[in-house]
Amino acid sequence: MAMQSLSDLVAARRVIVTVGSGGVGKTTTAAAIALAGARAGRRVLCLTIDPAKRLATSLGLGTMSHEAQLIDRAVIGLPEDSKGSLTAMMLDVRRTFDELVERYADSREARDRILNNAIYQQIAGSLAGTPEYMAMEKLYSLKDDNRYDLIVLDTPPTSNAIDFLEAPDRMVAAMDSPTVQAFVQAFEKGGSLSLKLLSKAMAQVLSGLSKFTGAGFLEQVAGFLTDIQSLFGGFRDRALKVREELKAPNVAFVVVSSPEPMAVTEAMFFGEKLTEGGMRVEALVFNRVRRSGVVDISSPARIANVLSEAGVEPHVELAAGVLKAYQDASVWARRDANEIARARREMQSVARVVEVPAFDEDVYDVAALSRVAAIIAA
Ligand SMILES: Nc1ncnc2c1ncn2[C@@H]1O[C@H](COP(=O)(O)OP(=O)(O)O)[C@@H](O)[C@H]1O
Ligand SMILES: [Mg+2]
Repeated sequence: MAMQSLSDLVAARRVIVTVGSGGVGKTTTAAAIALAGARAGRRVLCLTIDPAKRLATSLGLGTMSHEAQLIDRAVIGLPEDSKGSLTAMMLDVRRTFDELVERYADSREARDRILNNAIYQQIAGSLAGTPEYMAMEKLYSLKDDNRYDLIVLDTPPTSNAIDFLEAPDRMVAAMDSPTVQAFVQAFEKGGSLSLKLLSKAMAQVLSGLSKFTGAGFLEQVAGFLTDIQSLFGGFRDRALKVREELKAPNVAFVVVSSPEPMAVTEAMFFGEKLTEGGMRVEALVFNRVRRSGVVDISSPARIANVLSEAGVEPHVELAAGVLKAYQDASVWARRDANEIARARREMQSVARVVEVPAFDEDVYDVAALSRVAAIIAA
């Protein structure tokens, strides 16, 4: 099966979203795509969530800033006359949530009540689906920004495949659940809270929030829930719009996976879900693929050759150790190749497939990122 790189996507799409299970290399892939885009002469915005500190530092990014930061072209080796540029923005979930509240609150008073509410402050960053929702939200607010040709969206670190797709529903559901509704009603009926009206489930929720004990706590919860209810309409509408936008032909999803069987199975499932949802899964990136060595050391005679060429005395124990390492590597390489073949059979409709090798070290500098970029957009 021939491999096709992502170069055409990088050169022409408006939005590229990297998705996959936690830790497979979404952020690395997003950064590499963004770099490749800039080198192809496009003005790229890379919207990332959890860049490794070392990677951010090596790109010259202050880690504390959540503003858009233009990366120095010298740092990424862009020629002076290149039209391309690379801007990075780190998504701040809490801040994006605040901006949404500002946009959708009924009144200034409601806005301030929500933003200053201790419970809001506690949950804004940790409610189910919030980071995923906020990532999409941010994308939506930037997609028409004409300072950029390409927006690369990285997705949250811990999300598994499905979280991202279902984020809007999950986030709205978390606040719109029967439990929460019952709680709001209890508050509204009594004017102040009657504990007797609270369901057992709600009591459990509250005990989970037991940090906020003391007078006024329940009133605070109820007040918050009432206020935030008024945001739901806005959230829902917006979530639907975001989802529609993600189906546009100029939006490409890139599924990133490691070659581990579980990750591959999850990637295939996610690819299906996205496709069912009307989104375009345009590429598969297998990351950290293990390969057997380029040098053939599969027999003692060959090992002896390689060692003596390297100027090392080829004694028996050393040769045995090398052979063992080679055999182990071959086993892993075969397993990875089999998994990738399985995924490609199952996902034949995805035309672009690339394999990024497992490097000896993390991808944390421009040189390593460039290697990944070169493979992805060969
Ligand atoms: N091909 C690779 N070889 C070696 N290390 C890699 C490779 N791809 C990613 N990494 C490292 O693995 C870690 C997780 O990658 P990351 O892109 O942050 O994953 P995710 O965003 O999916 O959680 C990072 O430390 C990164 O530098
Ligand atoms: Mg990440």
